[in-house]
Amino acid sequence: MTQSPRQSNPFRPGFNQAPGVLAGRDEVLAAVGEALDVAALDARTPTPLVLVGSRGVGKTVLLGAVAELAAERHAWLTIAVEVRPDLGFVPQLIDRLQAGRELLDAAPSGRFTLDSLTARLGISGTGIEGELRRERPAGPHVDLLLERTLVDVCEFAVQRGTGIVITVDEAHLAGRAGLGELAATLQQHVAENWPLVVVLAGLPSLRDPGRAITYLERAEWHEIGLLDPADTALALVGPAEDAGRPMTDEALDILVAASGGYPFAVQLLGHHAWRASTGGSTIDADSARAAVPAADRALSDGLYAQRWADASGREREYLQATARVMLDDGSASGSQVAAALGATTPEVSYLRQRLLKKGTLVAVGRDLRFPVPGMAAWIRDET
Ligand SMILES: Nc1ncnc2c1ncn2[C@@H]1O[C@H](COP(=O)(O)OP(=O)(O)OP(=O)(O)O)[C@@H](O)[C@H]1O
Ligand SMILES: [Mg+2]
Repeated sequence: MTQSPRQSNPFRPGFNQAPGVLAGRDEVLAAVGEALDVAALDARTPTPLVLVGSRGVGKTVLLGAVAELAAERHAWLTIAVEVRPDLGFVPQLIDRLQAGRELLDAAPSGRFTLDSLTARLGISGTGIEGELRRERPAGPHVDLLLERTLVDVCEFAVQRGTGIVITVDEAHLAGRAGLGELAATLQQHVAENWPLVVVLAGLPSLRDPGRAITYLERAEWHEIGLLDPADTALALVGPAEDAGRPMTDEALDILVAASGGYPFAVQLLGHHAWRASTGGSTIDADSARAAVPAADRALSDGLYAQRWADASGREREYLQATARVMLDDGSASGSQVAAALGATTPEVSYLRQRLLKKGTLVAVGRDLRFPVPGMAAWIRDET
């Protein structure tokens, strides 16, 4: 059967784009389901869940799946916060909570169906629509305001016979003080058994010792990593088949191997193999082979170039030195990078800090790493 050329591509290469098949995440979704049930059926507040993983492994789409689960299973509202470096975490959280309170108030039953949520919140993206940026007083009043707002929303949810989920994406940008305030507020009210599930997601730097606030230490941590070959195959086969152009076994083997199980690469490869097979009735080995260089290019553009564009002139020098040391010596510590720049460690530590904060670099013990594989070589070759 020849396919119509207008058939749409079922793969979703792009940040925050929900994949056709969310493969390999059953365990973490089961843990989220359990937390929801503890809150909704046992009337206890479960400990927060923290999802950590590198760029492009699928943290944001998982948070979208959490919101869907909450809506489907208990008709609960999800209040989604995506931390932005230029806005304080706590004021953003307060704004979202207030917006959530308004939504709860507006819903006739306080209950949300998946459809109404999707329409109102765009849950496969990152949350409540519309920009809410009110001016707030800074300083010691802010945490009081957070507490008051959270108490208000939770008590209101109880009154309406419902509950809420709070998701915090890019939580590594929240800073120690902001996360500490949220943690302390939750801790203080744990005995009240709020119908509340909190799920944070961020880069592995969230684990840095400087941030290990007690409450988060006690949270349930989940590592979000690469997909194994079987799950990678599910993520490729499902969308292709559903869209009416199945993959041959040989094509599948090529794409699974080329992806290394990296979810973003899985979508890119699927996308380009789909394109290359336009007009055909299957995605065959030739289309899969054609997809590999195209996906590689897009991967570099999407992951490396974006990070590079994000860096200032001095930061770029720091990144280049890090890449050089890393490729020459196999690892790079802050002092080695400083030496390569002809500077003392304290002189360039602000650059290290800034790059760590943005997630362009991560610290593993004393070593600096790039959170996306291949970036060191890309910097050496392309800049
Ligand atoms: N379990 C999965 N199965 C298949 N594809 C996935 C899966 N998880 C994520 N993807 C795909 O990977 C890409 C990245 O997903 P997402 O934006 O959620 O990553 P992320 O971890 O939030 O990245 P970042 O840290 O940069 O925000 C998307 O194209 C998405 O469709
Ligand atoms: Mg994300």
